[in-house]
Amino acid sequence: MTKEKVLVIGASGQIGVELTLALRRIYGNANVVASDLREENELLKGSGPYVSLDVMNKEMLHVQVIRQNITQIYLLAAILSATGEKNPNLAWHLNMQGLLNVLDIAREEKLHKVYWPSSIAVFGPTSPRKDCPQRTIIEPSTVYGISKYAGEFWCNYFFQRYGVDVRSIRYPGLISYKSAPGGGTTDYAVEIFHEALDERHYDCFLKEDTYLPMMYMPDAIRATIELMEAPADKLSVRTSYNVSALSFSPNEIATEIKKHIPDFTIRYTPDYRQKIADSWPQSIDDSVARDDWNWHPEYDLPRMTAEMLENLE
Ligand code: NAD
Ligand code: SER
Repeated sequence: MTKEKVLVIGASGQIGVELTLALRRIYGNANVVASDLREENELLKGSGPYVSLDVMNKEMLHVQVIRQNITQIYLLAAILSATGEKNPNLAWHLNMQGLLNVLDIAREEKLHKVYWPSSIAVFGPTSPRKDCPQRTIIEPSTVYGISKYAGEFWCNYFFQRYGVDVRSIRYPGLISYKSAPGGGTTDYAVEIFHEALDERHYDCFLKEDTYLPMMYMPDAIRATIELMEAPADKLSVRTSYNVSALSFSPNEIATEIKKHIPDFTIRYTPDYRQKIADSWPQSIDDSVARDDWNWHPEYDLPRMTAEMLENLE
């Protein structure tokens, strides 16, 4: 088996920290290079190599790939939905050019594999609201969603035209306790746990009945690794796979938290993020991922809530 050397770009972010640690368990600490624009996350320190890197600087990225003998890249650097609506040009620029830089280098250096996440944000108000299928009407209404949808087609193009083995998942909102979320519309479902423990109260920026697709981070990390380890000939989707785990509203997660913290209260003060949430489906059909690479989620809302509270405490 060829020795793999992995570069994670955006390793200090919400997904990057946990994914880097998981990859280090698989490939060995020295074979997974963490990189980010910002400083190394505390949880990564001492666990393996770290380089400061801007994915927009293609030359610098290319030098690192050659110098470190990189064979796989996980590209996680992006601007998420809520921050993207505040600065659409920046979101488009980073989310597109960052991906194109990585795909070009992957082609030139014949990297074994590339991972790049898309999002449920590709779906828009005209997509089916419930059990949104893999292939359907897709008319995103946020700059983040537009950039993710365009990115999916660039991945497919590089696979079809140049044979770059790039794989992708449309993550739902991700819930985790190790590193903070980075400016998404689903961030409320992380904040609510911190506020419940610290303040016994949460001011929610979405309406109480806003259902969104969600997933606990251990399921997301496992999905990522299982997709990347799947035999190439099993993969029928080279844009990005729907994956699904949970669908709940702010009211439902608050009710679950109250079972552990009975005096917890919640108030609903919707802001600009309500419009973004309303444009996304409430739940996702992931039958293609289940058929192709045997995807199955493990966490339901009660189990995730209990683990989140226990770990944050
Ligand atoms: P995040 O914002 O927490 O982390 C992104 C990291 O990228 C940050 O540490 C940031 O410093 C770094 N970064 C930004 N610009 C960079 C640059 N120019 N060069 C190098 N690094 C740079 O985001 P995340 O939640 O970890 O998301 C990772 C990926 O997963 C993104 O593509 C995101 O769109 C996607 N995704 C996330 C979620 C979620 O709920 N977290 C859901 C769907 C898709
Ligand atoms: N969690 C992400 C966001 O809200 C979905 O891609 O932006």
